[in-house]
Amino acid sequence: MWVVLALLLAVSSGALSLDPLNMCMDAKHHKVEPGPEGQLYSQCAPWRDNACCTANTTEEAHTNNSTLYNFNLNHCGAMSKKCEKHFIQDTCFYECSPHLGPWIKEVNQSWRKERIVDVPLCQEDCHDWWEDCKDEITCKSDWHFGWDWDSGINKCPAGSKCRPWTEVYPTPKSMCEEIWSNSYIYTTYTKSSGRCMQLWFNGSNPNKKVAEYYYNNAQQHQSFALTMLLSLAFTSFSVMKH
Ligand SMILES: *[C@@H]1O[C@H](CO)[C@@H](O)[C@H](O)[C@H]1NC(C)=O
Ligand SMILES: *[C@@H]1O[C@H](CO)[C@@H](O)[C@H](O)[C@H]1NC(C)=O
Ligand SMILES: *[C@@H]1O[C@H](CO)[C@@H](O)[C@H](O)[C@H]1NC(C)=O
Ligand SMILES: *[C@@H]1O[C@H](CO)[C@@H](O)[C@H](O)[C@H]1NC(C)=O
Ligand SMILES: *[C@@H]1O[C@H](CO)[C@@H](O)[C@H](O)[C@H]1NC(C)=O
Repeated sequence: MWVVLALLLAVSSGALSLDPLNMCMDAKHHKVEPGPEGQLYSQCAPWRDNACCTANTTEEAHTNNSTLYNFNLNHCGAMSKKCEKHFIQDTCFYECSPHLGPWIKEVNQSWRKERIVDVPLCQEDCHDWWEDCKDEITCKSDWHFGWDWDSGINKCPAGSKCRPWTEVYPTPKSMCEEIWSNSYIYTTYTKSSGRCMQLWFNGSNPNKKVAEYYYNNAQQHQSFALTMLLSLAFTSFSVMKH
């Protein structure tokens, strides 16, 4: 009985060593801990007060076929600047955000030990991204997996076809959720709601409060579940004694 209780308590207080609201994921280019980075480049500049990325990562994020992942956005021909800027912003968000803790999960992938899953995106950011990219062409809906990497950069795999964006992604939701295999989840929350994460912002990082909200909500559910488990355990303990 006491072993079970001790285990439950250990599980519930498990992740005390890292602050889930101010941390960096364990991935290819992330710093170990977030901190100020005065020189963050161009579109990544909003994160300079507190970032998980370094200046050279952000500079690299703005180049074609960046050496960060050797990922080629122009796999079906040149991507327009207006679309490309959303992918740059997405890279800034992924590499720099110190407030993704509530959505970080362990993975067994060659290039990282952790990833993000189901980060709730603000509706405006997802819609603007899709609007600015809807005239592009691509050959895959999932850009994480399934490329032909034989040449060192991603090429469309055999049997795939370059198709209109709107055929591959009929809606903003399908694009935001499928493109990075559910790193993002589509929401109808707007930027002013405080319930969704912003890719694009100016001034102080609005995503800290959003992460706090989701983290505290999850904690409430967890402690409710723990209370239920404990009372169940006590009930069955007293039943056993009778
Ligand atoms: C950026 O610079 C740091 C420090 O010099 C270095 O450790 C890191 O590998 C560099 N990253 C990239 C992507 O060039
Ligand atoms: C990026 O990769 C594409 C596809 O292989 C290639 O055509 C292009 O020249 C490369 N651009 C740069 C700047 O290296
Ligand atoms: C990226 O490549 C496109 C065409 O492939 C070119 O128009 C654009 O200038 C390049 N951008 C950079 C930053 O090199
Ligand atoms: C991770 O994947 C590698 C290669 O597929 C495998 O050898 C290893 O056992 C996996 N590790 C875990 C913890 O699943
Ligand atoms: C940030 O500021 C720039 C320049 O003033 C503006 O064009 C842009 O719309 C602003 N972005 C957001 C998300 O407020």
